[in-house]
Amino acid sequence: MCGIVGYIGDKNSAPILINGLKRLEYRGYDSAGLGIIEEGTPRIVKAKGKVSVLENKVDSDGLHGEVGIGHTRWATHGIPNEINAHPHFSMSGKIMLVHNGIIENYSVLKEFLISKGYEFVSETDTEALVNLIDYYCKEECDLFEAVRKALLKVDGTYGIAVLSKDEPDKIVIAKNGSPLVIGLGEKENYIASDVNAIVEYTKRVIYLEDKEIGYITSNDYLIKTLDNHKLNKEVNEIDMDIDEITKSGYDHFMLKEIMEQPESLRNTMRGRTVLSEGIAKLGGLIGYEERLANSKRIIISACGTSWHAALVGEYLFENYAGIPVEVEYASEFRYRNPIIDKDDTVIFISQSGETADTLAALKEAKRKGALVLGIVNVVGSSIARASDAGVYIHAGPEIGVASTKAFTSQIMVLSLITLLLARMKNMSVVQGQEIIKAIEALPEKVEEILKHNELIKSVSAHFADAKNFLYLGRGIHFPVALEGALKLKEISYIHAEGYPAAEMKHGPIALIDENMPTVFIAPQDAVYEKVLGNIEEVKARDGKVLAIADENDTKIETLADYTLKIPRTHEMLMPILTVIPLQLMAYHIAVMKGLNVDQPRNLAKSVTVE
Ligand code: G6P
Repeated sequence: MCGIVGYIGDKNSAPILINGLKRLEYRGYDSAGLGIIEEGTPRIVKAKGKVSVLENKVDSDGLHGEVGIGHTRWATHGIPNEINAHPHFSMSGKIMLVHNGIIENYSVLKEFLISKGYEFVSETDTEALVNLIDYYCKEECDLFEAVRKALLKVDGTYGIAVLSKDEPDKIVIAKNGSPLVIGLGEKENYIASDVNAIVEYTKRVIYLEDKEIGYITSNDYLIKTLDNHKLNKEVNEIDMDIDEITKSGYDHFMLKEIMEQPESLRNTMRGRTVLSEGIAKLGGLIGYEERLANSKRIIISACGTSWHAALVGEYLFENYAGIPVEVEYASEFRYRNPIIDKDDTVIFISQSGETADTLAALKEAKRKGALVLGIVNVVGSSIARASDAGVYIHAGPEIGVASTKAFTSQIMVLSLITLLLARMKNMSVVQGQEIIKAIEALPEKVEEILKHNELIKSVSAHFADAKNFLYLGRGIHFPVALEGALKLKEISYIHAEGYPAAEMKHGPIALIDENMPTVFIAPQDAVYEKVLGNIEEVKARDGKVLAIADENDTKIETLADYTLKIPRTHEMLMPILTVIPLQLMAYHIAVMKGLNVDQPRNLAKSVTVE
């Protein structure tokens, strides 16, 4: 994880770097630092904690200079403290470096460097790299060459930016496994872990690929492969507005992103259906539809919330398109030697498009000859670029660590792919049209639910002191139960478990008492009556019940202690509606507990390490 940023130009770099780090804080926020060349002297300021702590320190220290690098950290090697925070100086004090990733062979490198007289001050893997660069810089130093030589000795992942006292007119950068982008300005250039950090300064960017190395100066740049071949890379125009990455008046990004869902869903579905034919039209899959529809099997792989969306996808593809589906945690898939052949399609779902496990699993699936598709939010991200084809969810930047609008847009895309496939198979045009009408009506139904935010908040207040929660749902609502429980865990630090409702009898029922609330996702579908039976079982054991139910359901109100109603839609789209009260409930409970909703402890939005 971690976020890096760099600036070179004619302005003071410190405020630009601080601003960039704030936009990257979702990648890590346990410590942060800036390294700037100030009138020829390299200076580093670091702070434990959030970027705002660093900002205060930088303000009082008066750090100033036209070239600099910055880092916000999510600790892997070494506890979060000032010593372990980046940038790291080489022992000579000439070179400084910020790093996102893990140097796997750092202990071997460190031993070698110690034998050459180097001394280390931090517990980080990064310090081995900056000293190795310093080692290759001993005699006549060419920073770019020294970085290149050092990286040839490194095993592991990195996105790095390096500054040297002796070459203050350039920032050397390199990427392998961690994202890195160059931003091109007028008489100034930028580097960052992602475009959020620099979008207010430039919209012209170049994405680095793995094993690429380069540098930026204030009016030029160079990119080569690690084995020293010069590259002419495409300059991309990014289509993102600064409003999309600010809180726009909301207290938290998470609340803003929950409230944005009618719009993010409209963006996901826009132009992707043809009502007259009852079909979905997905530009990113053109040329791959037949192969996908004829897949012997579809595997969907992801992590976290995206994995929950994958479980919804399993239900949709099997139920409507009749294709067998398996869902795999990317972290398991990549190490399990999965049996995949060329008739399989493997779909990877990722909001960030940078999750290390998902990216590694993707590479494994490709190696085995499967068709590899991505369902990704961040345009131009590593997973999007490594896939054979795919569908962007177009949910817009998601900054809150707990994923909300990406989840609903992922399910929207899965529904569109289901429609595409089902219509190529057995689904009639009329059925297809019904689904499209339901899709088109969905954003307004989401708005309806969001209007009840105050009610959801007051219901949440009854549960804010609970220490444990159970979330239960059946069929397509089981993944929603998992997602509801995950949201609560992530930001409220309340232990919560999601279970298929019928499984309650096989264990969790033993936990139920008056102190353990149970949330039932219980719309009126084929198993509704059975879920009512499960509610009775909880009530019989003095458990408190919150039901997420259909708007016309009066029966459930007589059983549950609290009921939150949702409008009806096509069964396929129900998870998009049922999850919203659960997102809001997790949000309100976290706020009531005084917790940092957007930056929960120990988590990071984009997990770019294993
Ligand atoms: C982290 C985030 C989760 C996210 C998961 C997968 O754990 O905190 O919110 O669901 O990574 O991320 P991805 O970007 O691949 O969807």
